[in-house]
Amino acid sequence: MTKTAATPTRNAPASVDAITLLDADHKAVSELFARFDSANSVSGKQALVAEICAALGVHAQIEEEVFYPAVKLALKDKVMIPEAIIEHASLKGLIATLEGIDPDGEMYDANVKVLSEYVKHHVEEERDELFPKVRASSIDILELGARLAARKQELMAKAASAA
Ligand SMILES: [Fe+2]
Ligand SMILES: [Fe+2]
Repeated sequence: MTKTAATPTRNAPASVDAITLLDADHKAVSELFARFDSANSVSGKQALVAEICAALGVHAQIEEEVFYPAVKLALKDKVMIPEAIIEHASLKGLIATLEGIDPDGEMYDANVKVLSEYVKHHVEEERDELFPKVRASSIDILELGARLAARKQELMAKAASAA
Protein backbone atom coordinates (compact mmCIF):
# COMPACT_ATOMS: atom_id res chain seq x y z
CA MET A 1 0.00 0.00 0.00
CA THR A 2 1.77 3.11 -1.16
CA LYS A 3 -1.35 5.20 -1.59
CA THR A 4 -1.44 8.05 0.86
CA ALA A 5 -4.54 9.59 2.34
CA ALA A 6 -5.67 12.85 0.81
CA THR A 7 -4.87 15.82 2.96
CA PRO A 8 -7.79 18.03 3.88
CA THR A 9 -6.00 21.32 3.33
CA ARG A 10 -4.71 22.18 -0.11
CA ASN A 11 -1.87 24.34 1.09
CA ALA A 12 -0.39 21.89 3.53
CA PRO A 13 0.45 18.79 1.53
CA ALA A 14 2.97 17.53 4.06
CA SER A 15 0.73 17.78 7.08
CA VAL A 16 -2.09 15.51 8.04
CA ASP A 17 -4.66 16.24 10.72
CA ALA A 18 -4.79 14.08 13.83
CA ILE A 19 -7.92 12.18 12.82
CA THR A 20 -6.71 11.41 9.32
CA LEU A 21 -3.43 10.14 10.76
CA LEU A 22 -5.09 7.92 13.37
CA ASP A 23 -7.68 6.66 10.85
CA ALA A 24 -4.87 5.70 8.47
CA ASP A 25 -3.15 3.76 11.29
CA HIS A 26 -6.41 1.94 12.03
CA LYS A 27 -6.82 0.98 8.37
CA ALA A 28 -3.22 -0.19 8.09
CA VAL A 29 -3.62 -2.50 11.09
CA SER A 30 -6.90 -3.87 9.82
CA GLU A 31 -5.20 -4.68 6.49
CA LEU A 32 -2.45 -6.52 8.37
CA PHE A 33 -5.07 -8.60 10.20
CA ALA A 34 -6.73 -9.42 6.86
CA ARG A 35 -3.35 -10.53 5.50
CA PHE A 36 -2.87 -12.73 8.57
CA ASP A 37 -6.18 -14.45 7.81
CA SER A 38 -4.97 -15.47 4.39
CA ALA A 39 -1.37 -16.25 5.38
CA ASN A 40 -0.51 -19.92 5.16
CA SER A 41 3.01 -20.25 6.52
CA VAL A 42 4.06 -20.03 10.15
CA SER A 43 6.88 -17.65 9.31
CA GLY A 44 4.53 -15.46 7.28
CA LYS A 45 2.07 -15.32 10.18
CA GLN A 46 4.84 -14.55 12.64
CA ALA A 47 6.13 -11.70 10.50
CA LEU A 48 2.62 -10.24 10.24
CA VAL A 49 2.05 -10.55 13.98
CA ALA A 50 5.34 -8.77 14.64
CA GLU A 51 4.23 -5.99 12.30
CA ILE A 52 0.78 -5.80 13.91
CA CYS A 53 2.16 -5.67 17.45
CA ALA A 54 4.74 -3.01 16.54
CA ALA A 55 2.14 -0.88 14.76
CA LEU A 56 -0.35 -1.20 17.62
CA GLY A 57 2.35 -0.35 20.15
CA VAL A 58 3.36 2.87 18.43
CA HIS A 59 -0.26 3.82 17.73
CA ALA A 60 -1.34 3.26 21.35
CA GLN A 61 1.65 5.20 22.63
CA ILE A 62 1.06 8.29 20.47
CA GLU A 63 -2.60 8.26 21.41
CA GLU A 64 -1.80 7.99 25.09
CA GLU A 65 0.99 10.55 25.09
CA VAL A 66 -0.36 13.12 22.66
CA PHE A 67 -3.92 12.59 21.45
CA TYR A 68 -5.81 11.45 24.53
CA PRO A 69 -4.46 14.13 26.92
CA ALA A 70 -5.28 16.90 24.43
CA VAL A 71 -8.75 15.52 23.81
CA LYS A 72 -9.47 14.88 27.48
CA LEU A 73 -8.57 18.46 28.30
CA ALA A 74 -10.48 20.07 25.43
CA LEU A 75 -13.64 18.00 25.84
CA LYS A 76 -13.41 17.93 29.64
CA ASP A 77 -13.94 14.22 29.18
CA LYS A 78 -14.20 11.88 32.13
CA VAL A 79 -15.62 8.85 30.35
CA MET A 80 -14.36 8.17 26.84
CA ILE A 81 -10.64 8.66 27.41
CA PRO A 82 -10.42 6.67 30.66
CA GLU A 83 -12.31 3.87 28.91
CA ALA A 84 -9.98 4.03 25.92
CA ILE A 85 -6.93 3.82 28.21
CA ILE A 86 -8.34 0.72 29.89
CA GLU A 87 -8.99 -0.83 26.48
CA HIS A 88 -5.39 -0.10 25.51
CA ALA A 89 -4.21 -1.90 28.66
CA SER A 90 -6.28 -4.95 27.70
CA LEU A 91 -4.87 -4.84 24.18
CA LYS A 92 -1.33 -4.73 25.56
CA GLY A 93 -2.14 -7.77 27.70
CA LEU A 94 -3.29 -9.67 24.62
CA ILE A 95 -0.15 -8.63 22.75
CA ALA A 96 2.07 -9.79 25.62
CA THR A 97 0.26 -13.15 25.70
CA LEU A 98 0.63 -13.52 21.96
CA GLU A 99 4.36 -12.84 22.10
CA GLY A 100 4.78 -15.76 24.50
CA ILE A 101 2.84 -18.34 22.46
CA ASP A 102 4.16 -20.99 20.08
CA PRO A 103 3.27 -19.67 16.59
CA ASP A 104 2.74 -23.20 15.35
CA GLY A 105 -0.32 -23.98 17.44
CA GLU A 106 -4.05 -23.31 17.50
CA MET A 107 -3.77 -20.94 20.49
CA TYR A 108 -1.72 -18.59 18.36
CA ASP A 109 -4.43 -18.14 15.74
CA ALA A 110 -7.07 -17.91 18.48
CA ASN A 111 -5.14 -15.12 20.18
CA VAL A 112 -4.70 -13.21 16.95
CA LYS A 113 -8.43 -13.57 16.29
CA VAL A 114 -9.35 -12.23 19.72
CA LEU A 115 -6.82 -9.42 19.35
CA SER A 116 -8.26 -8.45 15.97
CA GLU A 117 -11.82 -8.42 17.32
CA TYR A 118 -10.75 -6.36 20.28
CA VAL A 119 -8.89 -3.88 18.08
CA LYS A 120 -11.93 -3.66 15.78
CA HIS A 121 -14.18 -2.83 18.71
CA HIS A 122 -11.81 -0.19 20.06
CA VAL A 123 -11.29 1.38 16.63
CA GLU A 124 -15.05 1.57 16.04
CA GLU A 125 -15.51 3.43 19.29
CA GLU A 126 -12.78 5.90 18.38
CA ARG A 127 -14.07 6.38 14.85
CA ASP A 128 -17.79 6.59 15.68
CA GLU A 129 -17.83 8.26 19.11
CA LEU A 130 -14.55 9.98 19.87
CA PHE A 131 -13.43 11.36 16.50
CA PRO A 132 -16.73 13.11 15.66
CA LYS A 133 -16.57 14.90 19.03
CA VAL A 134 -12.98 15.93 18.38
CA ARG A 135 -13.88 17.23 14.91
CA ALA A 136 -16.74 19.25 16.39
CA SER A 137 -14.54 20.70 19.13
CA SER A 138 -12.19 23.65 19.12
CA ILE A 139 -9.14 21.36 18.98
CA ASP A 140 -6.61 22.33 16.31
CA ILE A 141 -6.46 18.91 14.66
CA LEU A 142 -3.72 19.97 12.23
CA GLU A 143 -1.42 21.06 15.02
CA LEU A 144 -2.27 17.88 16.94
CA GLY A 145 -1.64 15.84 13.79
CA ALA A 146 1.83 17.36 13.45
CA ARG A 147 2.65 16.43 17.04
CA LEU A 148 1.34 12.88 16.54
CA ALA A 149 3.34 12.50 13.32
CA ALA A 150 6.53 13.75 14.97
CA ARG A 151 6.19 11.39 17.92
CA LYS A 152 5.28 8.49 15.65
CA GLN A 153 8.38 9.08 13.54
CA GLU A 154 10.53 9.21 16.66
CA LEU A 155 9.14 5.95 18.02
CA MET A 156 9.47 4.18 14.69
CA ALA A 157 13.07 5.30 14.36
CA LYS A 158 13.76 4.04 17.86
CA ALA A 159 12.14 0.67 17.06
CA ALA A 160 14.12 0.38 13.82
CA SER A 161 17.42 1.08 15.55
CA ALA A 162 16.62 -1.45 18.29
CA ALA A 163 15.73 -4.20 15.79
FE1 LIG B 1 -6.91 3.89 20.94
FE1 LIG C 1 -6.68 4.40 17.72
